[in-house]
Amino acid sequence: MKKNVLITGGTGFVGKYLTAELLKKGYSVSILTRNSRPDTDGVSYYIWDVSRQQMEEAAILNTDYIIHLAGENIADKKWTSKRKEEIRDSRIDSAKLIYSVLKKNNKQVEAFVSASGIGYYGAMKGEGICTENTLPADDFIGKVCQEWEKSADLMAGLGIRTVKIRTGMVLGREGGVVKKLAPIFKRGLGSALGSGKQYMPWIHVHDLCRMYIEAIENKNMSGAFNATINDSTTNLSFVKALASCLGRPLWLPNIPSLFIRIGLGEMADIVLTGRRVSSDKIKKLGFRFQFKGLKKALKDCLKTTLAVSNQ
Ligand SMILES: NC(=O)c1ccc[n+]([C@@H]2O[C@H](COP(=O)([O-])OP(=O)(O)OC[C@H]3O[C@@H](n4cnc5c(N)ncnc54)[C@H](OP(=O)(O)O)[C@@H]3O)[C@@H](O)[C@H]2O)c1
Repeated sequence: MKKNVLITGGTGFVGKYLTAELLKKGYSVSILTRNSRPDTDGVSYYIWDVSRQQMEEAAILNTDYIIHLAGENIADKKWTSKRKEEIRDSRIDSAKLIYSVLKKNNKQVEAFVSASGIGYYGAMKGEGICTENTLPADDFIGKVCQEWEKSADLMAGLGIRTVKIRTGMVLGREGGVVKKLAPIFKRGLGSALGSGKQYMPWIHVHDLCRMYIEAIENKNMSGAFNATINDSTTNLSFVKALASCLGRPLWLPNIPSLFIRIGLGEMADIVLTGRRVSSDKIKKLGFRFQFKGLKKALKDCLKTTLAVSNQ
């Protein structure tokens, strides 16, 4: 019988690619979502309501692995205190709900894999490279990532192998930064942000999905792993590469930090600060990234449309 993978937030940018990759590999997929939709070939949908701590428990009782991607998008809306709560609760209270259902039913899964972010490390000045042992930041995103990972570790307390994927900026055609920026850059209106010197570790969505699949299949994986290409892409080198891949000039001056801070408030940290992040730990387990060069990754994002089955 096919093994089943339950993906929370599987309807999102990463979840859609991951679903397609898992189906290709012969898994069946269940998705926990807030909005019901008809099942499709190989994909079943289950409903949950994290704020009410309710879910269709069959999603968990019938699965072999859980991948926890759900969370309010951190870049969608300005960070008011209400929005901050939504960003936090959608990640942490959802993990706690999964934990309570696993515990109540004495259900074991083969692995629990949770998304996390390289925002765990906060902003770093200078050339230091963060490894999985680098201490977390005490800004908003750093604290959310710590709590998110701590809630994932509840599953480890049930004897379940638990992996946390500290993800960099994900590049893919169907979502994230490329989808947002490509239309602006196509019109020749792109520019760097702030000093442009802030590091922007990235990963192609195809490699990220391969890493998630490695995390469920490789019994030697547990704990935190950085998911980024270990190069020294900065905001300026990123926007130059994007403009060049689209055949457009980059002629506008950098947008001053002050304007961005006035517009975005605290959320400006996402785009104005950065850090370098090492992926040596996953490489030491034998994992090889297929998209290592930024231009190759961007060209692929700009030309391919992966078949996604659960749109
Ligand atoms: N994309 C990136 O560059 C990046 C980088 C670092 C980390 N990550 C993390 O990786 C995960 C997946 O990223 P993504 O880009 O695929 O995100 P996404 O496109 O925003 O999708 C996230 C999914 O989470 C679910 N969700 C949102 N709010 C929720 C809530 N209040 N309660 C329950 N579920 C909720 C939604 O599913 P339904 O609408 O079906 O309920 C949504 O489709 C996220 O946790 C994100 O923070 C992403």
